[in-house]
Amino acid sequence: MDLTLKFSILLLLLGFGCYSLGSHNSSTASVSVNASPFRNDFGHCERVVKKWASSSLEQEVREDKHTLRDLLFFLHVPRTGGRTYFHCFLRKLYYSSLECPRSYDKLRFDPRKRHCRLLVTHDDYSMMSKLPRERTSVVTILRDPVDRVFSTYEFSVEVAARFLIHPNLTSATQMARHIRSKTKGVSTLDIWPWKYLVPWMREDLFARRDGQEHRGSDDVQSSDPYNMEEVVMPLHEYINDPIAQEIVHNGETFQVVYSPIVLEHRGNLQKVAGLTNNSYLSESHEVRHCVQRYKHLGEHVLEVAKKRLDDMLYVGLTEEHRESATKFANVVGAQVISQLGRSNSSEESAADSKPEQSYSVSDSKSDNNELRNRTLDGKESEIASPETVEAVKGNMTVGELMEAYEDCISSLRKTQANRRTSSLKRISPANFTKQARLQVPEMVLQQIRELNHLDVELYKYAQNIFANQHKRNFGITAFMFRCFTGGIQH
Ligand SMILES: *[C@@H]1O[C@H](CO)[C@@H](O)[C@H](O)[C@H]1NC(C)=O
Ligand SMILES: *[C@@H]1O[C@H](CO)[C@@H](O)[C@H](O)[C@H]1NC(C)=O
Ligand SMILES: *[C@@H]1O[C@H](CO)[C@@H](O)[C@H](O)[C@H]1NC(C)=O
Ligand SMILES: *[C@@H]1O[C@H](CO)[C@@H](O)[C@H](O)[C@H]1NC(C)=O
Ligand SMILES: *[C@@H]1O[C@H](CO)[C@@H](O)[C@H](O)[C@H]1NC(C)=O
Ligand SMILES: *[C@@H]1O[C@H](CO)[C@@H](O)[C@H](O)[C@H]1NC(C)=O
Ligand SMILES: *[C@@H]1O[C@H](CO)[C@@H](O)[C@H](O)[C@H]1NC(C)=O
Repeated sequence: MDLTLKFSILLLLLGFGCYSLGSHNSSTASVSVNASPFRNDFGHCERVVKKWASSSLEQEVREDKHTLRDLLFFLHVPRTGGRTYFHCFLRKLYYSSLECPRSYDKLRFDPRKRHCRLLVTHDDYSMMSKLPRERTSVVTILRDPVDRVFSTYEFSVEVAARFLIHPNLTSATQMARHIRSKTKGVSTLDIWPWKYLVPWMREDLFARRDGQEHRGSDDVQSSDPYNMEEVVMPLHEYINDPIAQEIVHNGETFQVVYSPIVLEHRGNLQKVAGLTNNSYLSESHEVRHCVQRYKHLGEHVLEVAKKRLDDMLYVGLTEEHRESATKFANVVGAQVISQLGRSNSSEESAADSKPEQSYSVSDSKSDNNELRNRTLDGKESEIASPETVEAVKGNMTVGELMEAYEDCISSLRKTQANRRTSSLKRISPANFTKQARLQVPEMVLQQIRELNHLDVELYKYAQNIFANQHKRNFGITAFMFRCFTGGIQH
């Protein structure tokens, strides 16, 4: 370990220690030891949320946020298109040996792997408690909340529908368990939030299919695929279910916030985490429950979320696809290239290149078994990428990166579209298309907006950041050109 690193770790530990002593009483007092049924009267909730927010806002703004630090943390909000960035940018930039061990369930950050440089995960900011914050740059992509809810709904159905090749639910779940225990890969069903949303939807699909069989009719009354109760849970039912309340709504806001308070958790000093259902600290759940119960308390959380976005190295927008990608290549890609080039990553990668267990169960083509396997390996978008070649690449240019990205994304899209089509066939005549979305009643859309009021505000804020990044970007790009790239095609 080099000296600087040792020193920073020391500082970090000291910092934790002092903070913990100073705020010990106040920060731990409200975390009830086993807080399952939270107190949720308004007075209590207001105190909890305000305390959480004020300690989160105390944190200093980072002056140098435009500079890539040692570790790149891609905060992947589900259904924002993050996985294409992972496959088509980050995998091309980083040697796989530089990837931090990912955790799909709870936090299992492996501290032995000190030199990792890239972390991509659905985990919320809880992850930061395991990372050296001073050395970490965070990037994320946000999406219009209405589209994100549609996409979450459709993907829940898509993955669940793959199980309909089985004769009944028992056989589907048994087979799923059996194969999961035998494969090394991680399936969608291990990943939050799908590990909750898919089994829920799967059970529902089988129940509806049984109902149809029972009635002896597969007539479908409605022509609106988002409201075909005979075959699939209607959208309006989905968004009003407690599970969606808990896991889907305002998910962007809950995922990007965190508080820097340190508290003791099972003997370790840690920071209070993000606020999603996936967070591992009871205080987080208490804050979230309070905000879900008392809508206007959400304002405090929103303030923190905006501040977190301000601190990020890069914020992309799913809707502005092309521009987001170009910007990513210029802002993040160029700096990664320069950083890895400097640090002579080939040496580093040789030193600790025990490759991560491959997490994508590869898509073997074309036997009948494949269908069966597919119900299980349904990763969001894995591609059997023959070009999982050890990536880059001190001397790739931003232009080359963009080219590689374009190729990659078009093949990725094809794969995704095929899987989706073959899966949705099983719930025909329901089919989710762009045109069908336009037919969804305004009332339902309005309800989605209300249920996601924090995300609606956060998204507007992100659009602002994006527009300003754009302006600033010209400066950065010019600089990059001179320093380390061969130029970029627009
Ligand atoms: C610290 O905790 C003790 C016991 O819970 C309490 O009596 C005291 O008022 C607390 N002090 C502060 C500063 O919160
Ligand atoms: C489910 O399907 C399996 C496989 O066809 C069959 O053995 C089993 O009896 C079925 N279970 C029920 C409850 O119908
Ligand atoms: C997360 O949501 C699921 C589904 O609603 C629920 O079963 C689980 O208990 C929740 N976890 C926490 C920590 O609240
Ligand atoms: C990178 O490391 C290799 C192997 O240790 C060494 O031969 C090479 O000269 C280094 N390159 C640079 C640019 O430092
Ligand atoms: C799943 O795929 C593997 C190889 O890709 C194959 O050996 C196995 O038989 C398949 N399993 C099932 C249950 O179809
Ligand atoms: C860098 O570029 C040169 C010339 O294009 C190539 O021969 C070399 O293999 C590249 N090095 C790496 C590490 O990609
Ligand atoms: C669903 O719609 C898509 C896009 O229009 C189309 O490609 C696909 O074939 C349709 N699937 C079914 C089962 O009709």
